[in-house]
Amino acid sequence: MGYAARFAHLRRKERPLLLGIESSCDETAAAVIRGREILSSVILSSAAEQAKYGGVVPEVASRAHTDAISEAVRRALDEAGTPRESLDAVAVTYGAGLLGALLVGLSFAKSFAWALGIPLIAVDHIRGHMAAAYLADPALEPPFITLLASGGHTAVLYTKSYTDFEIMGSTRDDAAGEAFDKAARVLGLPYPGGPNIEKLAREGEPNIPFPKMFRGAGYDFSYSGLKTAVINYCHNKEQKGEPYSRADVAASFQQAACGALVERAVAAAKERGCGVIAAGGGVIANGWLREHLAAACRKEGLRAVLPEKKFCTDNAAMIASEGLVQYRAGNFADLSVNACAHIPLGKKGKQ
Ligand SMILES: Nc1ncnc2c1ncn2[C@@H]1O[C@H](COP(=O)(O)OP(=O)(O)OP(=O)(O)O)[C@@H](O)[C@H]1O
Ligand SMILES: [Mg+2]
Repeated sequence: MGYAARFAHLRRKERPLLLGIESSCDETAAAVIRGREILSSVILSSAAEQAKYGGVVPEVASRAHTDAISEAVRRALDEAGTPRESLDAVAVTYGAGLLGALLVGLSFAKSFAWALGIPLIAVDHIRGHMAAAYLADPALEPPFITLLASGGHTAVLYTKSYTDFEIMGSTRDDAAGEAFDKAARVLGLPYPGGPNIEKLAREGEPNIPFPKMFRGAGYDFSYSGLKTAVINYCHNKEQKGEPYSRADVAASFQQAACGALVERAVAAAKERGCGVIAAGGGVIANGWLREHLAAACRKEGLRAVLPEKKFCTDNAAMIASEGLVQYRAGNFADLSVNACAHIPLGKKGKQ
């Protein structure tokens, strides 16, 4: 009998106590939730170490996870005030991400769940970003529009139910977060680019008319044109020896990149007659975006559900939140579940 089958007839609780574990990139994170209530969220990041290299080095990340995983889980349980024996399940990111990094969290979670004799839940990292909204608003129920904007994904989705969604539009090239990181590099800002562009943008004006973002059929995005426009603008000025304001470039880029997200999410909500836009992913931590999305929603009589900034970037509470969805669906994993570097957006079915 496989491990998951042991729990086929489990009496599932209404508000289970779940441990979430996340290690897909450079954050080693652990969190405890009860139902949709966050009891603790610990993030031990190797970002400062990675900044020396200008990006995430997989082996550096794997080593940092190996050093930090036990400590992150111990602290999450301590801060929640819950002994490990009271946990009902362990939810862990199995993909997508850096393989070595994922394997650290996944191996830890497998042995932890097995030792406690509780279900293991394998979570898709991106569904975790989308599920962060359930913690931000414990009353949130589908259907709603999801705006997903992270380091590797940009999409507008129609979330039909807790487990089913339709992709209304997604990026055709770079993701929004990736564009922030690349624009930051051109401006000589350190990794990670997003927060540093936001900081610099506060000192500038959005007065550079970068081309309006490609608007094809549906709700697709394309960030490569905007990225190239930023690169060309800076290089042209430098070649001609003309001074220019890096802060104005940052502000103009931020407005163009985030404006497209707001515009498409609101249009999608209107088309589907949805009253709620729920957002997730690291770019949703951007202050300009949060302010303008909230304002656009108010104007259109919509409600915006924005997770706190620390639950937009990688964290384990969002993994536990998606774990809760899977727990309720009885979707448990076997101990043979493997890490997966790439998971297409919208992949359905059991892990
Ligand atoms: N304040 C901000 N403004 C804009 N972008 C931001 C901000 N904070 C973080 N980001 C961007 O969010 C991204 C990191 O977020 P996230 O955790 O969602 O990405 P990831 O885990 O690398 O990618 P994915 O989740 O798609 O696998 C980076 O690209 C970063 O620059
Ligand atoms: Mg992420």
